Amino acid sequence: MRAALFSTKPYDQSFFEAANETCRHELAFFEPHLDLKTVTLAAGFPAICPFVNDRLDRPVLEKLAQHGTRLVALRSAGFNHVDLIAARDLGLTVVRVPAYSPYAVAEHTAALILSLNRKIHRAYARVREGNFALEGLLGFDLNGRTVGIIGTGKIGTVMARIMNGFGCRLLAHDPFPNEECKELGVEYTALSDLYAASRIITLHCPLTPATHHLISDKALMQMQNGVMLINTGRGALIDTQAVIAALKSGKIGSLGLDVYEEEADLFFEDLSGRVIQDDVFARLLTFPNVLITGHQGFFTQEAMARIAETTLGNLSDFERGRKLNNAVRAEQVLR
Ligand code: NAI
Repeated sequence: MRAALFSTKPYDQSFFEAANETCRHELAFFEPHLDLKTVTLAAGFPAICPFVNDRLDRPVLEKLAQHGTRLVALRSAGFNHVDLIAARDLGLTVVRVPAYSPYAVAEHTAALILSLNRKIHRAYARVREGNFALEGLLGFDLNGRTVGIIGTGKIGTVMARIMNGFGCRLLAHDPFPNEECKELGVEYTALSDLYAASRIITLHCPLTPATHHLISDKALMQMQNGVMLINTGRGALIDTQAVIAALKSGKIGSLGLDVYEEEADLFFEDLSGRVIQDDVFARLLTFPNVLITGHQGFFTQEAMARIAETTLGNLSDFERGRKLNNAVRAEQVLR
């Protein structure tokens, strides 16, 4: 099947070409994001494969449908960047990669927690400059601390296992509690109880209308002073302005982010020679207790290989009229 891949980097191309040796689809790799300006590149391709910062709103989907696209094969688990109702109206099928490696994201989340707690990012810079002073590097034992996990699906469950290994007490909030977590000893609570009791809070729920700005002024007020907040889910789960105010007041003691509300204009590019125009992001970078990575949670060899294999498998299933196990339907956003 002919497929146009958007927002591709050389590493995407090499994983897709390796996986395609058995599938033999006709793949075209495009570096630009998919948007109204670039959508004409997709003309004549029955399938397109976008990534997380491509915008698949109604106008873009209309153009895709007009140009003959029938399948939108997302290279991600998250599908918050697609107007699924518009896709349904236009007869476009949407598929995704529901699970590629929950370990990749959960392990990266644990890396952020450990680094922030023991100030590894600051220690690294100090030692390189011959500064071996310990002032400002004091951490706390994770053992015995309470960790609140919001969303205990595939990633949240691996996160629970990891933090259980550190000897933490685990609280969780999820409309669909999960048996494996319960067996691990995770206690499901209301959000307000989780906020009040957790030393560390980590977000692993999808971005939906119900979770947009879940971490608001109101939510932050209910948290412990000095709480560690980690977001490797989606940027808009937190209200960034509210979080900046909470960092300034000391309500948030440390913040780890792998995602950012306005990341589409920043992440995945080398902008080191340019002036950052986003003042909110620039403010976040000034805090010593904020650690940001550029949406790399998924970026392991295993996850990249799986994303390519599953996406190409989705194309094959669609081409041969087989059942689409990884289809995403409009009802999933309306829940
Ligand atoms: P999943 O679908 O297995 O789990 C999501 C869980 O969140 C489900 O158990 C669901 O019931 C729960 N949930 C839904 N609404 C909720 C709410 N209002 N409050 C609390 N829980 C709620 O998804 P998975 O694979 O665990 O991924 C979670 C999210 O992680 C994805 O939606 C995506 O946004 C993000 N992600 C980030 C990556 C990165 O590179 N940083 C890579 C992959 C995913």
